[in-house]
Amino acid sequence: MNHRPKLLITGASGQVGAEFQALADQFPQFDFHFTTRKELDIGEVQQVRELFETQHYDYCINCAAYTAVDLAEKERELAEKINITAVENLATICAKQQIPLIHFSTDYVYHGSQNRPFCEDDPTFPEGIYAATKLAGEAAALKLNAHTMIIRTSWVYSPFGHNFVKTMLRLGQQRPELSVVFDQVGTPTYAYDLALAVLNILQQVTQGKITADQLSGIFNYSNEGVTSWYDFALAIFEIRNLNCAVVPIESKDYPTPASRPFYSVLNKGKIKRTFDLNIPHWRDRLMHCLDRLPKTIS
Ligand SMILES: NC(=O)c1ccc[n+]([C@@H]2O[C@H](COP(=O)([O-])OP(=O)(O)OC[C@H]3O[C@@H](n4cnc5c(N)ncnc54)[C@H](OP(=O)(O)O)[C@@H]3O)[C@@H](O)[C@H]2O)c1
Repeated sequence: MNHRPKLLITGASGQVGAEFQALADQFPQFDFHFTTRKELDIGEVQQVRELFETQHYDYCINCAAYTAVDLAEKERELAEKINITAVENLATICAKQQIPLIHFSTDYVYHGSQNRPFCEDDPTFPEGIYAATKLAGEAAALKLNAHTMIIRTSWVYSPFGHNFVKTMLRLGQQRPELSVVFDQVGTPTYAYDLALAVLNILQQVTQGKITADQLSGIFNYSNEGVTSWYDFALAIFEIRNLNCAVVPIESKDYPTPASRPFYSVLNKGKIKRTFDLNIPHWRDRLMHCLDRLPKTIS
């Protein structure tokens, strides 16, 4: 049998990590090694070194991150440790072993005042600790390992962990009315589609359709379409037939410790062209996710 490329997936119990697990059976050509924080704390340099000394990986997909956007304002050190130092460390080890590193980042790095979808070479204006640490982590990974692929994504949801969809379902069952901001516009990303896109890309490398060298640089990925959080909530309730009214409010009436961009739509032209990807519309994929979620969410 041909060599089965071995994939290390860190942060395997997070939203994106769990979707890689859900998809693994569909990609028998890959040998997956999933590690949760318990098995591999990416912030512990020695642990990471030892793992790479004992295992030979062909790709490292880093799904681990510090993702508590608001809490980061109080936990700068921890956010920096996981989103910058640990990423530097992973990139250095991957570079030594000549392994591509696939790493996720956020639309929050753009945070500009423009009203057209962001391209990868648009200027960055991260606001808040989380966004700043994610941008610094990207830069470090790109500098330390030439084979680094950064995927900037937005509004991630899935049947796993905490996210807007699950929160809306839970609150929508409990309350007759919910207020949701309508002045923040972007595109939801179904974590399943994001993980599937990465596996499709790696499959193309194994099939010789693209070279591993093409796995380098920054790429945007979200589902297609544009919406606001308000419209997203309406869609969730409509598809689930939940009798909960949604009241549109302004961001100024829902203050958060870290500010969010008003306009945060990603232009996916680069990833679609480079890897010949078809990206489904957010609403179609919301239905897919809702089909996987139980009727009641506690
Ligand atoms: N969620 C979004 O809306 C969003 C938007 C844009 C970009 N992104 C980016 O997309 C990527 C994936 O996000 P996600 O939504 O899947 O995040 P998530 O659900 O919060 O998962 C992150 C995972 O990282 C793990 N982790 C944290 N510190 C770790 C450490 N020191 N060592 C090992 N694992 C550690 C967490 O483990 P525990 O469960 O034990 O804490 C969790 O399983 C991240 O890079 C994030 O910045 C997310």
